[in-house]
Amino acid sequence: MGWHGKIERNVILLLVLSLLTVSIGGLVEIVPLFTIESTIEKVKGMRPYTPLELVGRNIYIREGCYTCHSQQIRPFRDEAERYGHYSLAAESMYDHPFQWGSKRTGPDLARVGGKYSNEWHVAHMIDPREVVPESIMPPYAFMLENTLDVDDIAAHLRANVAVGVPYSEDMIENAAADLAVQADPDGDHDAFLERYPKAAVGDLDGDPGRLTEMDAMVAYLQILGRMVDFDALTVDDLRQ
Ligand code: HEC
Repeated sequence: MGWHGKIERNVILLLVLSLLTVSIGGLVEIVPLFTIESTIEKVKGMRPYTPLELVGRNIYIREGCYTCHSQQIRPFRDEAERYGHYSLAAESMYDHPFQWGSKRTGPDLARVGGKYSNEWHVAHMIDPREVVPESIMPPYAFMLENTLDVDDIAAHLRANVAVGVPYSEDMIENAAADLAVQADPDGDHDAFLERYPKAAVGDLDGDPGRLTEMDAMVAYLQILGRMVDFDALTVDDLRQ
């Protein structure tokens, strides 16, 4: 071990060799990442948010829902049994910024979509204690009164394109119409659902005559965690 003793007694030599070792370790970790297109693997079923879901998501952020709710199910048995399949990185790949959160005053919402009816969500948002007597969640009844004001929705989609969300020209062109048709119970949803599979359509807020913030909120909550169909997912899909 004579040679090692030499290194330990010579500070400069120790420093240089330490730096060399750390650099090699760092390069081995970092260089392979340059050979792949993205560190997030795409998963079948993921699509950009509908214009109405996107607006709902903005309201979610505006109201600070993330201060009480996380949107990330960790890969532990207790979490998976309570909330469902653990979250995949791909499930928040179109979220800018992502809503993982770090606080759970209320439950995780990553898979709340489809758990309750639209009516339940509306009643719960108007007065949480009406449906969950022990709830400490604040009421958001004003969302039912606030009419949606989103003349700039196409620009909003474009802004998302700028950060990598794959909205097509078709989606951007139809943004305003798609926003309205999603919450219209009498609307023709075929083309819309082709663009945005699994979106909740129809009378979302119980007030079919008006497009409100509640429509947007319900549309957003109802898609959370539902884009990827885990029952139909194979290993090949995960590698897609
Ligand atoms: C002060 C903390 C707090 C804030 C802020 C908050 N919540 Fe909650 N939320 C809770 C608690 C606690 C519960 C559990 C009791 C209940 O169901 O009301 C809950 C439950 C929920 C549920 C039902 C989840 C389930 O699986 O049963 C939904 C949906 C929800 N919140 C949505 C929202 C949205 C949307 C916002 C923002 C507009 C919001 N919350 C803001 C505390 C909060």
